[in-house]
This record gives sequence, structure tokens and C-alpha cells, in this order.
Amino acid sequence: MKVTVVGAGNVGATCANVIAHRELCNEVILLDIKEGIAEGKSLDIWQTSPINLYDTRLRGVTNDYAATAGSEVVVITSGLPRKPGMSRDDLIATNAGIVRSVTENIVKHSPDTIIVVVSNPLDVMTYCAYLTSGLDSTRVFGMAGILDTARYRAFLAEALNVSPKDIQAVLMGGHGDTMVPLPRYTTVSGIPVTELISKDKLDAIIKRTTVGGGELVNLMGTSAWYAPGAAAAQMVEAILRDQKRIFPCCAWLQGEYGLKDVYLGVPVKIGRKGIEQIIELKLNKEEMELVNNSSAAVKEVMNVLDNMNAAALK
Ligand code: LAC
Repeated sequence: MKVTVVGAGNVGATCANVIAHRELCNEVILLDIKEGIAEGKSLDIWQTSPINLYDTRLRGVTNDYAATAGSEVVVITSGLPRKPGMSRDDLIATNAGIVRSVTENIVKHSPDTIIVVVSNPLDVMTYCAYLTSGLDSTRVFGMAGILDTARYRAFLAEALNVSPKDIQAVLMGGHGDTMVPLPRYTTVSGIPVTELISKDKLDAIIKRTTVGGGELVNLMGTSAWYAPGAAAAQMVEAILRDQKRIFPCCAWLQGEYGLKDVYLGVPVKIGRKGIEQIIELKLNKEEMELVNNSSAAVKEVMNVLDNMNAAALK
């Protein structure tokens, strides 16, 4: 089994490292446009194999898409990361061009692959990969919800002084400031979180979660990579091991939640076929309003991409 990670920046390299360390496949191809980077990082990661005890092979290549042929899963991380003061949406023009060209090259060599998009602005770059790939939408989806819920769960674990392993949560909407953590669907080993924390504290954690990526950009001058890389690897694991795991992922909606023709974070079941089910929760009025608001924000940026595509065809 073979997995390709496109983009050997911080997120891509971290994702490749986790995939190899957990022996999710026999071979990981790490591809980058910059000469030597993917080769160097995969060699460095491979040299951890005698220490971390795994035998997944890693191979780095510079723009050599033939090496990616027959990949079961491709993770696309390419594109510019955010700098302080930038929103994820500021990246659209540059990153859409990159994601389009990467996707074209990928499906040329792996026509039946499953694509996991990580590039920002996430929801719209997933849409871009979907439009370009010609693949069924069950095979093109985005990583954001696992990362955003991980942040939410980590903040809650800290505030409650409990293990993060015991916190389950659902979060919906776009991967931006309008994302919607759902307290009604947040539990600590089955106990509703609202029974364990005050409303004020929970509201503050929700607020911090929605700007969780920005908090890290401000601290480091660039966007995060450990949690994003690990989150993408967890999706690869669910696919390759046919785990039927339920995760919030960025999926193409065709009427679910009353939303149509939009890529948005919703709970889905992931297995060997990709997205095997979109789970429709019974949201209350207030929750649905927040999700609608987030969908409208994503659609606005999707329209920017549609207009760019239309202008390019003229
Ligand atoms: C973040 C970036 C990867 O949320 O979108 O950290």
C-alpha cells in the first residue's frame, strides 16, 4: 500500500512522519516542488526507523508525479501558510493555482485515489481539488474538523484536569472563525460537558477554539503543523484500515442539513471507500443558525474561486 503526501513543508513532513511511525502503509512518497526538500526530509524521517521501530519506506521526490502512481490515498498540503495578520481566505488565489495543478498531476497517475486536502483556505481548496479531480465527492474531502475538535478537546482537558482521551466532541462548519463547536454533543466519558464546567468557561474555550489556528500563527509567525499533520494521518489510518471512524471532516453536501453544493465540516463515517456516510445530527435552531452562518461564509469564498475559474475560461 502506498500513500503520497504532497508538500514537504512542516505539515506534510509531520504527516509523513506519523504515517510511517504508525506503519499505516508500506511506502510513503513525499513530493515537493523545491529541489531536495522532500528527499532530505524523507531521508531524515527514514533514519528514525531503527529508533522508532517501523519499516514503512519513505521516498522523497522533486515534482516527480510518476513516483506517486498507484497511491491509495494522497494528502495535499501544498500552498503558502498564513503569516500573522492574514486570514486563511487571503491565501485563495495562490493556493488555488497550486492545488489545481497538484490535483491534475495526482489523478493522472492515481485515477482511483482518495484525496485528503489540508491546504488553506481548507473548505475552498477541498472544493478546488474536487472540481479538478473529476473524482466522486466521497473520495475528495478535507481535514479540519479533527484538528479543530482536537484543539477544543485539549483546551477542555486542561480546564477540567482530565485526560484528553476521555473527551468526545462534535464540531461543524468551515475551518475558520465561524466554525461551530457543539457543547450539546460534547461529553467527558459520556457525561455531558455542561454538567462539569460553567457556561462562562465553556464559552471562553469555544471562542479560543474558533481562533485556535490564529493563536499559533501569532505565536510562531507561521501556521501550526504537529496537530494538523497528525490529524491528516488519522484520516489516512481510518481509510487504509477501513475503520469506519466517525470524524468531523469537510465534505460535499447535497441537501444534508438543508445545505447544497457546499464543502463544509460535518460528522462523517470514514472507511476504505472514503466518506461512507454523512451523519445528520438533529441540531436545534440556535446550532443550525451558526452552521448556516458558517456555510454562508464558506460559500462566499467558494464564489471567489468560481469567479476566478469563470474568468480564466473567458
Ligand atoms: C491551522 C491551520 C493549519 O488551523 O489551518 O492551524
